[in-house]
Amino acid sequence: MSGTDGKDARRRLPDAAAMLAWLIEAGADEAIGATPVDRYAASAAPIPAAILAPAPAAERRPPPARPRPMPQPFAAAGDALLSGREVASSARDLAESCADLAALRAALTDFNGCALRKTATNLVFADGDPAAPVMLIGEAPGRDEDLRGLPFVGRSGQLLDRMLASIDLDRSTVYITNLLPWRPPGNRKPTTAEMTICLPFLERHIALQNPKVLVFLGSTAAGALLGVTDGIMRLRGRWLNYDLDGRTVPALPMFHPAFLLRQPARKREAWADLLMLHDRLAGLHA
Ligand code: URA
Repeated sequence: MSGTDGKDARRRLPDAAAMLAWLIEAGADEAIGATPVDRYAASAAPIPAAILAPAPAAERRPPPARPRPMPQPFAAAGDALLSGREVASSARDLAESCADLAALRAALTDFNGCALRKTATNLVFADGDPAAPVMLIGEAPGRDEDLRGLPFVGRSGQLLDRMLASIDLDRSTVYITNLLPWRPPGNRKPTTAEMTICLPFLERHIALQNPKVLVFLGSTAAGALLGVTDGIMRLRGRWLNYDLDGRTVPALPMFHPAFLLRQPARKREAWADLLMLHDRLAGLHA
């Protein structure tokens, strides 16, 4: 192998140990064919030019913030409490008034329209590169995330890191957030009201980060953002469209890493989804 070939091979297999660990955990403990198959070389389905073509500069700019006074959805003590719908509408106004990610984080820090904020230790806003082409969206912080103020840093986060490493990604090349920025007590499922209140912030988060590709980790994020009730078994494994203010962003629902920790046999499908993501991102640079 020439020096150049060696370099190419290293670039394509950036972390062979991580990939091997991933395969072993997935139960791939025996060879099923005499000839190795280079799945990275397998061509992805044709990608519509409209999605892959670099968007014109004007399109890549996030939609302008609506100039508004910063509304505070909860009435002062003694005033009438706002209804859930009014809180959600105020949340939308507040989110849309944010011109950049720093403003959105600050707005969430001060937002007292979601009771989860009171029981959470920290706001869990995001991790990774705000300019990354891919944004991953989970459900809600757990205990470790709540303590550290960062998404996916507990056990499922460690698995997520290994999954990303297997396709040469890490936290410096992706952007990660959650549907809910505060931990639900005891890691319970988010309620519909909590999701309704937090969704406008997430939608604005997506608009401001302006990803080329979205990954929904689990059915909660996928369902909330796509407005569907299908389970992750039906949703995963194919590219869907997320409408970002009139621009279509390809979105890939995948198994949540916490689910994969409980159901390791499902890692085979997760690996196939990771390869789809890898191919899609490679297509962006082609
Ligand atoms: N599960 C999630 O959905 N998000 C996290 O940040 C951690 C665990």
